[in-house]
Amino acid sequence: MKKPIGIIDSGVGGLTVAKEVMRQLPNETIYYVGDTARCPYGPRSSEEVARFTWDMTEYLIQYDIKMLIIACNTATAVVLNEIKETLSIPVLGVILPGARAALKHSHSGKIGVLGTVGTIRSNAYSKALKSINQDVKVSALACPKFVPLVESGEYEGDFARRIVSKTLQQMKADRLDTLILGCTHYPLLEPIIQEVIGAEVKVISSGEETAREASTILDYNESLAVGDHTPHHRFFTTGSSKIFAQLASKWLQQDHLIVETIDL
Ligand code: DGL
Repeated sequence: MKKPIGIIDSGVGGLTVAKEVMRQLPNETIYYVGDTARCPYGPRSSEEVARFTWDMTEYLIQYDIKMLIIACNTATAVVLNEIKETLSIPVLGVILPGARAALKHSHSGKIGVLGTVGTIRSNAYSKALKSINQDVKVSALACPKFVPLVESGEYEGDFARRIVSKTLQQMKADRLDTLILGCTHYPLLEPIIQEVIGAEVKVISSGEETAREASTILDYNESLAVGDHTPHHRFFTTGSSKIFAQLASKWLQQDHLIVETIDL
């Protein structure tokens, strides 16, 4: 089925999920909305996060999407269930797939979670992990300084390394064997996070598992795009299309991306 898959995020971070969907499902067309003008969602109230997430959802519904992926942990934590119950298409979040991927890799059951203030406050990862395995020990840490590093494009280099190193200091004593990047922006900082936390810790981002779940559901519903047509992705942002296009082109390794600025 040629209808697009909708992906929404508070900004560019959800492109880490989009990239995985493009890799695993290269025939699928993606319509992506990044609410860059109102990013970050992490420190906002649940009411605001819910309202903004609905704005993006309603925007994409007009394009007759066949599936919605809420590629934002903060939004998933707050409003996934409500949107899922309201829409008649499949709606996926990123928290359960991330938790499942971590459980698959962890041997000691000591799992760390990094996320925004909103995600960590919601305890959503802890609940998801413990709903599958009650015995896991979860250390959760809010990292409010990470998202601005990514949104500003400063996610490589010494400045980013200093911030990551200072933030993760306290977690190093927890003897984790698995660490979940519970925020869609953090995979862009993954090389630095891995270096700081140590090679013995498996770092997990939920994009891969979420894309796999999307693929399974579309296959089950017989709505995968099959045949050899070229997908025509569209990217919408509430902020600067130029900055979004720069980051998106670099991350997705695609030139000439068309990015449209929208009002929500
Ligand atoms: N996309 C958000 C998340 O995954 C992070 C950025 C923000 O705070 O809005 O939680």
